[in-house]
Amino acid sequence: MARTVLITGGAGGLGAALTAAFSARGDRVVIADLPGPRLDTAAAEPAVEAVALDITDAAAVRAAVELIASDNGGLDVLVNNAGLLHLHGSVVDLPVADIEAIFRVNVIGTFAVTQAVARQMIAAGTPGAIVNVSSIGGRQPTPGMGAYESSKAAIDQLTRWAAIEFAAHGIRVNAVAPGPIDTPMMRIDMPEGSAAREQWLARIPLRRLADPARVAAAAVFLASDEADGITGVSLPVDGGQLLV
Ligand SMILES: NC(=O)c1ccc[n+]([C@@H]2O[C@H](COP(=O)([O-])OP(=O)(O)OC[C@H]3O[C@@H](n4cnc5c(N)ncnc54)[C@H](O)[C@@H]3O)[C@@H](O)[C@H]2O)c1
Repeated sequence: MARTVLITGGAGGLGAALTAAFSARGDRVVIADLPGPRLDTAAAEPAVEAVALDITDAAAVRAAVELIASDNGGLDVLVNNAGLLHLHGSVVDLPVADIEAIFRVNVIGTFAVTQAVARQMIAAGTPGAIVNVSSIGGRQPTPGMGAYESSKAAIDQLTRWAAIEFAAHGIRVNAVAPGPIDTPMMRIDMPEGSAAREQWLARIPLRRLADPARVAAAAVFLASDEADGITGVSLPVDGGQLLV
């Protein structure tokens, strides 16, 4: 049956793969992202509804979620994919404003969307699934990336917190935790054959970055009935990086 799936950060690199994967299974996909050319391009895709939304604006989040649910007869799946991932620095150097910005989007924004969507699902009395996009960095530190990684550790705990509270309502909450993903942006930051890419690959037993389509497939699985016995997990899609 076609479900309504809200994907935050849907205009980004992984967002495009998530949109394609849920659309391919026949779901109605609504993407929510910051206004701008990337959202305009994503909105031009057939059968995709695009909503301009800043997830750090809790009032706007509530209004958008209510509208999306009323336009589509409810909301079945939420994918919390929006995130800030390019602000980095060491503990001694990172400006406090940067870690505030990271936590505002990655943690508080994700919380606000989760809260608004869960209220809709609970009021409707229908089962639902939430998939958060975490990162294995939440469990394995890399020098200079700890502010972002700390936000993803918080996402893993938010996943467990929401899972235990929503279970009674038939709402499952899980996360996918990718290692570095081979998005178009990654191919600019770390081109094929570059020293930076080789350094990452050396940490990954399967010697490949995460394919965005494979990360999306894991999210589709966790949101599917085939995963109806799974809640509160954060599933690594990391080529085995957490093993070493
Ligand atoms: N790229 C990687 O290597 C990697 C690895 C592990 C996890 N992740 C996670 O995957 C998710 C997607 O990352 P990506 O690689 O596609 O990056 P991306 O920058 O291409 O996508 C992130 C999207 O989030 C949106 N966004 C940022 N702030 C927002 C806000 N306040 N409100 C609404 N939307 C906002 C951006 O506009 C963008 O479209 C993120 O949560 C990221 O932390 C990425």
